[in-house]
Amino acid sequence: MGTAVPDTALLYDRVKTFIPPMEWGVFADDIDAILALKRQRNAVVLAHNYQTPEIFHCVADITGDSLALAREAQKTQASVIVLAGVHFMAETAKLLNPEKTVLIPDLRAGCSLAESITADDVRLMRQRYPGRPVITYVNTSAAVKAESDICCTSGNAKKVVESLDVPEVIMLPDEYLAQNVAKETKVKIIAWKGHCEVHERFTAAEIRELRASHPGVVVLAHPECPPDVVAESDFAGSTAAMSDYVAQRRPRRVVLMTECSMSDNVALQHPTTEFVRPCNLCPHMKRITLPKIREALETMRHEVTIDPALAARARVAVERMLAIR
Ligand code: 13P
Ligand code: SF4
Repeated sequence: MGTAVPDTALLYDRVKTFIPPMEWGVFADDIDAILALKRQRNAVVLAHNYQTPEIFHCVADITGDSLALAREAQKTQASVIVLAGVHFMAETAKLLNPEKTVLIPDLRAGCSLAESITADDVRLMRQRYPGRPVITYVNTSAAVKAESDICCTSGNAKKVVESLDVPEVIMLPDEYLAQNVAKETKVKIIAWKGHCEVHERFTAAEIRELRASHPGVVVLAHPECPPDVVAESDFAGSTAAMSDYVAQRRPRRVVLMTECSMSDNVALQHPTTEFVRPCNLCPHMKRITLPKIREALETMRHEVTIDPALAARARVAVERMLAIR
């Protein structure tokens, strides 16, 4: 890639209000090693917004929501992609880069939504609701994507639904995302019963309590939250949309009804905003650590592979989504 390795001390500047100086030593050695390995391997690290600040701010080349990571995976010139996120994100990167090496630092980094549905389930839904196109959330396996007409993310779900120009669609597997989108469109949406184990735990009562205890707080929610939580919020959007909201509107006080590291990362970029933090941790995202990213680059494990015939079908669904602007 030919870019200069940033000095580790300069990187500390980005996270110094979050990581105390005496803890920095624990991270610095891995960060140095990862920066050197990235150059050696011609590798990039793509990190989701839920990665911890030392990953997000110190070793990631690209950060963003699922949609941005897919778009960037499509563009990268690197030979190796390390996906600091969960398995479906690494699979999406591999679908878009069949000739590249895609590594996931921990194979156990799954997702409760991806676990909630199989390819057989999608085929059954098609039988039960013939003629309706199937829109699959990217938080699914490649096998499920292969059974779908088109993918969506939380950042483009409404646009994807309306792009099909039909009165009724099947949208899998996140029931709450489907219900939240259904409120914003005339298209009828048939949903599945999948839930995100992180976002399903937020409640509308919690938001009311937060507003009482933190006057003036602006509440931003991820659309994987239950519809009554979204209804109590001031804004709902993908992780990137929440981050953009803070950057553009600069609220004095904000709460992000989503995964914990999201607030940590955005707060570091906006020191004048007060972040109220009743968050829920995603145990899958938290399986990715600096030592595991280092190990992935040292050993070139764990490589994500997808059966080529299945990948060809799944890729069509992802590329159709990416073609929508
Ligand atoms: P985003 O696409 O909004 O980043 O969401 C991904 C995710 O897993 C949220 O839980
Ligand atoms: Fe999956 Fe929820 Fe974790 Fe996102 S936060 S990766 S949807 S379990």
